[in-house]
Amino acid sequence: MADLYLITGGAGFIGSNVADEILKQGGRVRIFDDFSSGFRENVKALGAGVEVVEGDLRDYDKVREAMDGVSYVCHQAALRSVERSVDDPLSSDAVNVHGTLHILTAARDAGVRRVVYASSSSVYGDSTELPKHEKLTPSPVSPYAVSKLSAELYCRVYSKLYGLETVALRYFNVFGPRQSPSSQYAAVVPLFMRAAIDGVALEIHGDGKQSRDFTYIDNVVQANWRSFHSEGVAGEAFNVACGERHDLLEIADLVGKFVGRPLELNHVDSRRGDVKHTEASIDKICSMMGYEPTVGFVDGMRKTFDALQAGAN
Ligand SMILES: NC(=O)c1ccc[n+]([C@@H]2O[C@H](COP(=O)([O-])OP(=O)(O)OC[C@H]3O[C@@H](n4cnc5c(N)ncnc54)[C@H](O)[C@@H]3O)[C@@H](O)[C@H]2O)c1
Repeated sequence: MADLYLITGGAGFIGSNVADEILKQGGRVRIFDDFSSGFRENVKALGAGVEVVEGDLRDYDKVREAMDGVSYVCHQAALRSVERSVDDPLSSDAVNVHGTLHILTAARDAGVRRVVYASSSSVYGDSTELPKHEKLTPSPVSPYAVSKLSAELYCRVYSKLYGLETVALRYFNVFGPRQSPSSQYAAVVPLFMRAAIDGVALEIHGDGKQSRDFTYIDNVVQANWRSFHSEGVAGEAFNVACGERHDLLEIADLVGKFVGRPLELNHVDSRRGDVKHTEASIDKICSMMGYEPTVGFVDGMRKTFDALQAGAN
């Protein structure tokens, strides 16, 4: 029988896209999600063969139940957003750290082969060196970043202490189809695109010169697939990005071109806990896993805009 992959957060943006790839590769998929920010339509789009366990990471019995018969875990579920964690650090910690500990412990006890964990570029925080490489000392500046780094450390410790293979992927601002523009804590790309389509002003925090290594979803899906099956990567953390950065004004300009008119910008205060620039070195993942970004920034933005306009998000 084909391997069973448990995808936590499989109803969300990244998890549902990884699920598509696993199914394409012939794997079986079980999704664990509480649908707090994920969508039932994302699960429905995956087809009837996908199992769903509705539950909260904080419920250890439910997590253990979901782990039965699983070969690989793709752990995406989390309370995303730096801003959200500044508003409510307790729930960020409970879900992102303790929830991950539940996953690791249940995976260890169930004899899972490997856990691939969704970490974040936010762990680098206010270290000014660019590009960010994995040997830099993390320096988180938000509760979210602390939670992502803590869970990453638990992954490493579970690899060393218990022999549970884990891989942590530090995503750098992922964007693409199925990323929702509708929550209070939505990411900047879908937010700008939604505002542009609706003809309302874009809200820019600060001067708009803050830049990120924006990474199209297909590249992140590829990194996850390689992480399940590459040799010699257990216990390691890897940047997942494109290795270049773009600022918010550039995005506003590009989206303006897509809609065929310049967009009105409304500058508001900078957000607490945000970092100014991110840009990744992707040498480690390229050399150890053969990862190579296949969709660049402009192409990815076009695909995302077309999907949003067609009503896919
Ligand atoms: N999107 C990015 O740019 C980005 C960047 C760095 C890291 N990440 C990480 O990648 C992962 C996926 O992010 P995403 O953008 O797909 O977010 P998302 O909000 O679309 O997906 C998260 C999923 O987790 C589920 N979830 C949340 N809390 C849960 C809980 N307590 N129990 C069970 N399910 C729960 C949600 O319902 C949702 O389906 C997260 O761990 C996030 O921290 C994302």
